[in-house]
Amino acid sequence: MKAVELQLYLTMFAVLSLCSNAAGYTPYSFVPPRLPKPDFQFTFYMQSRNPLTLEAPSNSTQVGFGRGMFVFDNNFGSDEPVTSVGSNGVEWLWTGIFNDESGLGNSTLCFKGWNLELDSVTGTAELTLCGGTGLFKLARGYVQISAVVGATSASLRHDVSVFIKA
Ligand SMILES: *[C@@H]1O[C@H](CO)[C@@H](O)[C@H](O)[C@H]1NC(C)=O
Ligand SMILES: *[C@@H]1O[C@H](CO)[C@@H](O)[C@H](O)[C@H]1NC(C)=O
Repeated sequence: MKAVELQLYLTMFAVLSLCSNAAGYTPYSFVPPRLPKPDFQFTFYMQSRNPLTLEAPSNSTQVGFGRGMFVFDNNFGSDEPVTSVGSNGVEWLWTGIFNDESGLGNSTLCFKGWNLELDSVTGTAELTLCGGTGLFKLARGYVQISAVVGATSASLRHDVSVFIKA
């Protein structure tokens, strides 16, 4: 290595070391742009045996059903049992199929995302909307999930924000 190259190398090394040691240094500083107003917002509740309903009680009006899967990550092989959505990571991969009763007749939305657990302050988690069919062609957006525990049943509230832009 020539002297000039060595000096350059050492200078780069010094700069990188300074960067990584600086107090409060974070590698990404991203200021997200303000989100536009969603084109459509609605709420449904997912019951434990999967119909999607208008309200939290399991006998509430059915607005659709869900098909897909949840992939439970049992803490990367630890012996800890999976007891709830909040206890370990869950990968969500499912489609909501909305019925005529919902006013969204036969439209579908694809939900996907990884939740480690519900946020301890807000009690919510977010999923991604990955598109849809019917009224939801070209849809994207996000879903905020929160748990609703009743006297006799539990459900997951889904607050959906849909953006449709060609
Ligand atoms: C749902 O069940 C509750 C409690 O059993 C009952 O009070 C209510 O009337 C039911 N609602 C409907 C829409 O059936
Ligand atoms: C949805 O599908 C059902 C069953 O195929 C059909 O009877 C109904 O008319 C459809 N609704 C709409 C809004 O297309």
